[in-house]
Order: sequence, then structure tokens, then C-alpha cells
Amino acid sequence: MRALTWHGIEDVRVTEVPDPVLVDPTDAIVRVTSTAICGSDLHLYGVLAPYLEVGDVLGHEFMGVVEEVGPDVQNLTVGDRVVVPFTISCGRCWMCDRGLFAQCETTQVREQGSGASLFGYTSLYGSVPGGQAERVRVPHADFGPVKLPDDLPDERFLYLSDILPTAWQGVAWADVGEGDTLAVLGLGPVGQLAVRAAQHRGITRVLAVDLVDERLEEARQWGAEVIDLREVGDVAQTLRELTEGRGPDGVVDAVGMEAHGNPVSAKVISSAIRLPKPAARAAIEHAGIDRLAAVHTAIDAVRRGGTVSLSGVYGGAIDPMPMMDMFDKGITMRMGQCHVRQWTDELLDLARQPGDVLGLESLATHRVPLSEAPDAYRMFQRKEDGCLKVVLQP
Ligand SMILES: NC(=O)c1ccc[n+]([C@@H]2O[C@H](COP(=O)([O-])OP(=O)(O)OC[C@H]3O[C@@H](n4cnc5c(N)ncnc54)[C@H](O)[C@@H]3O)[C@@H](O)[C@H]2O)c1
Ligand SMILES: [Zn+2]
Ligand SMILES: [Zn+2]
Repeated sequence: MRALTWHGIEDVRVTEVPDPVLVDPTDAIVRVTSTAICGSDLHLYGVLAPYLEVGDVLGHEFMGVVEEVGPDVQNLTVGDRVVVPFTISCGRCWMCDRGLFAQCETTQVREQGSGASLFGYTSLYGSVPGGQAERVRVPHADFGPVKLPDDLPDERFLYLSDILPTAWQGVAWADVGEGDTLAVLGLGPVGQLAVRAAQHRGITRVLAVDLVDERLEEARQWGAEVIDLREVGDVAQTLRELTEGRGPDGVVDAVGMEAHGNPVSAKVISSAIRLPKPAARAAIEHAGIDRLAAVHTAIDAVRRGGTVSLSGVYGGAIDPMPMMDMFDKGITMRMGQCHVRQWTDELLDLARQPGDVLGLESLATHRVPLSEAPDAYRMFQRKEDGCLKVVLQP
């Protein structure tokens, strides 16, 4: 079959790979009908290169049709239409019992000290072949895949694999209620859905920050007050000025480790990832720093006693953090991979509602065949041609 495989820093290709086969009795094989490129894939494209091997199949946002099931998969039958959460969870361990699906104790990658295995996400997360492919082996298919109705287009459901629950969790964890103000930093696909989720959850005032015209405009159209990073010197100060000097009640960081505005660490990181693999991994694990502009802005901006919710991914080992501010302001911080399955029942109902209330069918700006994925990665990374979200059709 054909799949999008990794070949080096900013070098992905569509190549021929072996067809997936059932290995465990709880596996299923899914034929992919739609798959998307995520901001997390951009980290693999760049800074996480030391954790990839040539030929790794990428992709963790996918949906499709069940083609084969193992003998212990009772919940699915061949022909079912499903969307597959990017976090692989067993559904019955101590963590899964508590809804902490991204920490599943059955699929945790203990050799790396990481949480639950993820599709298409390097040796750090179990080296599970990903979904930017014609077919995927889905482990723990007796729990993970969400069955879908047949009546609506793929894009109503595709984002249940990751960005919709991620944005929803990000907003829920920011702990804001009706009448409160939420700031969303970063208006990529996750930030956009966070803006929409917030409105849907009754948070009337959303302040949204980015530095890309189309992304700011999109958030404005969904009712956010937007702040252009290129136009304000100090985002935290601007956010305070808009909130009676106090700061927003909650802040979602939907940017992560590759934020703009950290030229020095960008340079250090860019050299470190080009070292030979063991040295590069050591640099990341022991001396690693992220580009911290967004999280530092979030901490600076949030009101005293407020909550910072990190949807954006961070990976540094010695990131300098303003502990004095964090402690003195008494802030709460929540973070982590999304516990996708914790939110999918409620979000499937929402995604199906007449009128496409979250605008899921219009989020993607580009739909291209899988064969064009390498160009699409480049375009999404550079935010060219108004690119906000790319859906690939295998
Ligand atoms: N926690 C999870 O489970 C989970 C799931 C999916 C994605 N993510 C992470 O969420 C983040 C966003 O994903 P995405 O797909 O929307 O990616 P994206 O790269 O398209 O979006 C990031 C946005 O942040 C903006 N930005 C950069 N620096 C900024 C700054 N200093 N202040 C404000 N905005 C800034 C960029 O212009 C861009 O629009 C990534 O880090 C991704 O890895 C986490
Ligand atoms: Zn993703
Ligand atoms: Zn589990």
C-alpha cells in the first residue's frame, strides 16, 4: 500500500510499504477514507527528528471503514464506518477506568517513560505506524474506534480523532464559566476549534491571539476579539488592558514548543536536532529547551488565581519557568495529551447536529490526494496559500 513516510528533517515522501496485518486478537484493519495533517506532525517534521526512523509512517488523525477484525473485537463488524482516537487506550486498566485514556497503563511506553502509545508518533510513543496511509492496523480496536452514522461527510467526524476533543479539553481545563473571559493563544486548527468550543460552552468573551491574517480573520468570524501579535509589543499587557487590568480568567495555549518570538532557542534547537541521533536525543532530554514565548505569555497574562491550560505540546527538559510569578499569582496549570475517548460521546452528538454548529465541514482549507502530502506538509508548515487545515484522501 501507499503511505506517507518520514525520511529526514522536513523530508516526507509517499512510498510503498507492506500492507498492515492483524497481530493481536483485539486488532482491526481500517481502510482510510480521510486523514489530516496536524500541528503535532509539524514537530515530527522538524524538532522531534531524532526520535524518528527513515520509513516511519506518520499520521494520527484518520477515519475510514473497518476491513478486518480480530477474534476479540466484538463491537465492530466489517464495513463499519469509524473514526479512530490518536491515543491508543485499552479501556479497562486503572487509568482508563478513571478516564485518563492518554495515560493507559496497557499501552504506556515504559522504556521511554512516556504515556499511552500514539499513532504515527515516533519511538517516544511506541512507534505505531500512522494513519496517513491507505490502511492502518488499529490496536485495541475493541475499545478505541468510534462508530459513525453513514449520513454525513467525513469532515464532520474526522476531527474527533484529535483536534476537536483536544480543543474541547483545552477549554474545559481552562476552568472558565459563563461570564468569564478566555484567551486563546495560537489560532491554528486547535485554537480555532477552541474558540468555537468556548462559544458553544457559553463563554461569551474570547480573546484570540495569532500572527497570521487568515487565522485572525477566521477567529473573528467566530466571534472572538482578535489580537495580532505583530501589532502589539506585549501581548500579556494588552490582554490585561482588555480585562480591567486583571487578565483573562483562563488562557488556552494552543501554540506549543515551536512558538514564534524565541530567536535564540530556535537557533539552538535547530542545531541540536542536526547532531548525530544519540547526541541529539541527549541534548533534547537533558539540555532541551522549548520555544517558550506562548506559555510564558499565558502565565504572564492570566489573572491571579486563574488557570493556564496547555493544549500545545512541550518537550523540553530544562525549560526556564517564572516560578515566582506562577507561585505568587497562585495560578493553576493543566496540560497533557488529550484523553480523546473521554469526550467523544458528547462531541459525536454535537458534530452530528443539523447545521454543523462547529463549522467542521468548512475548517479544512485544502483537500488533496495522499500523493500530494509532501507539498501539503510544506504549505501547512509555512502557512502559505491561506492554509489552515489539510485533509488527505488516500
Ligand atoms: N494536547 C494534545 O493532545 C494535542 C493534540 C493536537 C495538537 N496539539 C498541539 O497543539 C498545538 C497547536 O496545533 P495546531 O494543529 O493548531 O498547530 P499550528 O502549528 O497550525 O498552530 C499554531 C499557531 O500558533 C501561532 N503562534 C505561533 N507563535 C505564537 C505566539 N507566540 N503567540 C500566539 N500564537 C502563536 C501560529 O501562527 C499558528 O497559527 C501544537 O503544539 C500541537 O502539537 C496537542
Ligand atoms: Zn493531531
Ligand atoms: Zn488502559
